[in-house]
Amino acid sequence: MTQQLDQHTSTLVSVRWHEDTLELLDQRVLPGQIDYLKLTEVLHVWHGIHDLVVRGAPAIGIAAAYGVVLGTLNKQYADRNQWLNQVITDAEYLATARPTAVNLFWALDRMKLKAKALAESTCPIHDLSAELLLEAKAIHLEDEEVCRSIGEHALGLFHDGMGVLTHCNAGGLATARYGTALAPMYLAKERGINLKVYADETRPVLQGARLTAFELQQAGVDVTLICDNMAAMVMQKGLVQAVIVGTDRVAANGDVANKIGTYGLAVLAKAHNIPFYVACPVSTIDMDTPNGELIPIEERHESEITEAFGTRTAPSGIKVYNPAFDVTPNDYVTAIITEHGILKPPFHISLKELTTKLQHK
Ligand code: MRU
Repeated sequence: MTQQLDQHTSTLVSVRWHEDTLELLDQRVLPGQIDYLKLTEVLHVWHGIHDLVVRGAPAIGIAAAYGVVLGTLNKQYADRNQWLNQVITDAEYLATARPTAVNLFWALDRMKLKAKALAESTCPIHDLSAELLLEAKAIHLEDEEVCRSIGEHALGLFHDGMGVLTHCNAGGLATARYGTALAPMYLAKERGINLKVYADETRPVLQGARLTAFELQQAGVDVTLICDNMAAMVMQKGLVQAVIVGTDRVAANGDVANKIGTYGLAVLAKAHNIPFYVACPVSTIDMDTPNGELIPIEERHESEITEAFGTRTAPSGIKVYNPAFDVTPNDYVTAIITEHGILKPPFHISLKELTTKLQHK
């Protein structure tokens, strides 16, 4: 199912459901190739998440939610408990695909909760999976609305002609649509506000070059690609007036885990007196993790650093350290932008206030 780039770029979605099949845009081969992998097995969804076919915190949550549904299909169940056990087993398995983005666990918990409610309901056994699919679709659809709201709030921080730096990919490809950090850029474009976006290439997997530069360029946003080590000079020259990134998990004190290199950018932003914004849905806030030191940081295979697209670029036998994420301490964060508004420091208070208010809604 390979298609060439120029045919499809305007409507690229990272996750879609079609006739009992989960289709994932293979983000590993972007921007050169547009391939949708068709998945019907939970095992394949696990690999899709683990191997970065689908990536970005909200998108992996959405994919996993559909994965749970897939696991229930084409099986015979003696009773509703057996169906529920299948859901729980598959959800626990999918939760092992990647450790850092809390959206994965958030989405799986929501699916388990829905499955339990369905199993205890009067829903006929043969309709349980169809009902569960509606929950996965709701997670998917809500993410699009949430991202648009994040964009609305974030756009208020930007003005025409402003330079904005971003890292990794927190765009439409990482979410249902719009993205988190990139949402204001899309809304700005819609409204004729010109932002000059600088995209870090984002070593080692190049999500910035392959995905952010690609999706913004396709949307006609003014985007300039830089190597990660150029960010300091871009700031020194006054080319950017804000940094905005996504996140995989916000701890209760406002420490923020995001793609490796984010912390360095935050330090640079502070040194240059540039605001450092983090955009995320509330589902990325983890009030059960008190601070960033307790966020599990994924370490990935050494070949991401020792090879570039199949060519060896480092001596064989070299020792490699490859953490996929870092933690930015909360005192480097100017504001956290959610679908419910902009949170300001002290974050242990603003995060608590927001999450408590939402619990009582
Ligand atoms: O390893 P990845 O590509 O999944 O890392 C993604 C990021 O770090 C994103 O910035 C984060 O998930 C936010 S996506 C809206």
